[in-house]
Amino acid sequence: MPTIEVKAYAKLNLTLDVLGRREDGYHELRMVMQSVALSDTLRVTTHTGGGLAVSTDKSFLPCDERNLAAAAALRFQEAAGVDLGGAAIGIEKRIPVCAGMAGGSSDAAAVLRALDELAQTNLTAAALAKIGEAVGSDVPYCVHGGTALAEGRGELITPLPPLPSCHIVLCKPYFSSSTPELFRQLDSVRLRRRPDTAGIISALEAGDLEGVARRLYNVFEDVFPSRRAVEITGIKNTLIQHGALGACMSGTGPTVFGLFPEGDCARRAYEDLGQTYRETFLTKSI
Ligand code: C5P
Repeated sequence: MPTIEVKAYAKLNLTLDVLGRREDGYHELRMVMQSVALSDTLRVTTHTGGGLAVSTDKSFLPCDERNLAAAAALRFQEAAGVDLGGAAIGIEKRIPVCAGMAGGSSDAAAVLRALDELAQTNLTAAALAKIGEAVGSDVPYCVHGGTALAEGRGELITPLPPLPSCHIVLCKPYFSSSTPELFRQLDSVRLRRRPDTAGIISALEAGDLEGVARRLYNVFEDVFPSRRAVEITGIKNTLIQHGALGACMSGTGPTVFGLFPEGDCARRAYEDLGQTYRETFLTKSI
């Protein structure tokens, strides 16, 4: 039975701007995305008959269509016009769940890539991203990965020059975010500040890490109730005190990350935050 092992990389938002609410209920977004080495590992096997079976090493995760990996497999068969017979998808999770790092969307994108290879459909990244659109707004970006501008619902992807080399510390507080709930709340708050998207793109083009780090900004940081905002600010401050050039929340949170030019400083921040927060990681852009 052919089996493929694929990595599903986590993403960070270097910026996240919400331009407005659309008639279809979604929001018009403008975000600079970055993939990082922190990843889930998926083993995808096709066999004759037996339907689709998804399993994960996290018992609290659903294995039916609510799991975006399962949704992606079903959508792939429909859109690519192939009957895989049966497929088994095993997911080893490392990316924190409901954390603003597109873990589920990245698993879905990895399934699309794996099935394309197993079914020998040879679809382009653009075609796989199009299939992924129906699975979730972050899936098209996750198919492409790297440094990119995502616009529209999140599905319009423009590649950008890579983030200059740096060390990244990620830290997830002990609460989870509900994306639809945060979008609803965002509709009723007045945003204090907007990210400088053009400025961060210029900094990426110039290879200017400091310029990028100075412009990290996510409008969802305005939406959290004060107790949680205090915790997010506390983690950001710890990252900065240890030498991060900038720190920001990713996606609809609550994961916070910092960009460090120095590996030693990043390690100290990782060790310090790791004493309080179990889901703290030291990683690199990819
Ligand atoms: O597309 P996805 O299923 O990942 O979106 C989850 C939820 O996030 C949507 O149901 C919607 O409430 C919100 N969302 C949005 N605008 C976007 C993307 C997501 O309002 N561009």
